[in-house]
Amino acid sequence: MSGSSKHLLQLRGKRPDEIRALLASARELTSPTGRELAGSTVANLFFEDSTRTRVSFTIAAQRLGASVVDLSGKGSSLSKGETLTDTARTVEAMGVDALVVRCAQSGGAGLIAGAVSCAVINAGDGRHEHPTQALTDALTLSSALGRDGDFDLSGVRVAIVGDCAASRVARSNIACLRALGAEVVCCGPASMAPPALATLGCAISHDLDEVVGEVDAVMTLRIQFERNSSIGSAREYRERWGLTVERAERMRPGAWVMHPGPINRGLEIDGEVADGARSLVLGQVANGPRVRMAALSGLLGACRESCTGAG
Ligand code: CP
Repeated sequence: MSGSSKHLLQLRGKRPDEIRALLASARELTSPTGRELAGSTVANLFFEDSTRTRVSFTIAAQRLGASVVDLSGKGSSLSKGETLTDTARTVEAMGVDALVVRCAQSGGAGLIAGAVSCAVINAGDGRHEHPTQALTDALTLSSALGRDGDFDLSGVRVAIVGDCAASRVARSNIACLRALGAEVVCCGPASMAPPALATLGCAISHDLDEVVGEVDAVMTLRIQFERNSSIGSAREYRERWGLTVERAERMRPGAWVMHPGPINRGLEIDGEVADGARSLVLGQVANGPRVRMAALSGLLGACRESCTGAG
């Protein structure tokens, strides 16, 4: 899969300084400034459902002055059998500068990047990665911990809890947090936190009660039912793996609760915890547009420079 700077497909393999530069750029984007992408067109190709990512990419592109077009699987010619790459090339041929891709196929964004000439941003592809979500999470956590000066998370411990194996958010967060110096432990039942995940650089635990009081942030994950994850009894799952009110009370003073959304309240996390004083959930959402602005402006700015021979 391409790791070139023309695309943002994954965080695995990115250098810490590349990730820190993106986060620093996002940190500075506190209010809409300039229209540096005026005349550019960004196409959202969302072949899986989304609220946060899709809306925040639209807001980000509009704040930068770009035009936005939206395409979803339902209502597009994908439903008539057109392939992902033919659809992407068709949209590109109408003159777009960037494709923001969400799809069910792991590696689908990379497949498209190999078939088009414009920039491609992975907005979540199957079980592979969701890089801008992890950047949003890292910006939010760094800020909450007072580490957003240099984005050095050395000594910070983060637990990612629940359906890690099926989660593109978990994969991007492991890569991002490890690059920034944090320790990561994936915690869940053996089917959702298998030993093989340790090859990504995280520890593995099957005991949330052991982990919950030892970390600086607990990031709970939605169960990916659409990717065939199964839990048996919802009540038993919550009892063993849910961030319940009782468990949250055992977190360290100053430790944070995170969730990339969408949340299934009362399953992986209690509603009172998601809305409680430790929660960064809406902060994660609020940081979405500025991270996506940083990604779009970085990629399309680089494209413009190479096209004009500037820089
Ligand atoms: N976290 C996330 O990707 O949310 P959406 O599916 O709503 O975009």
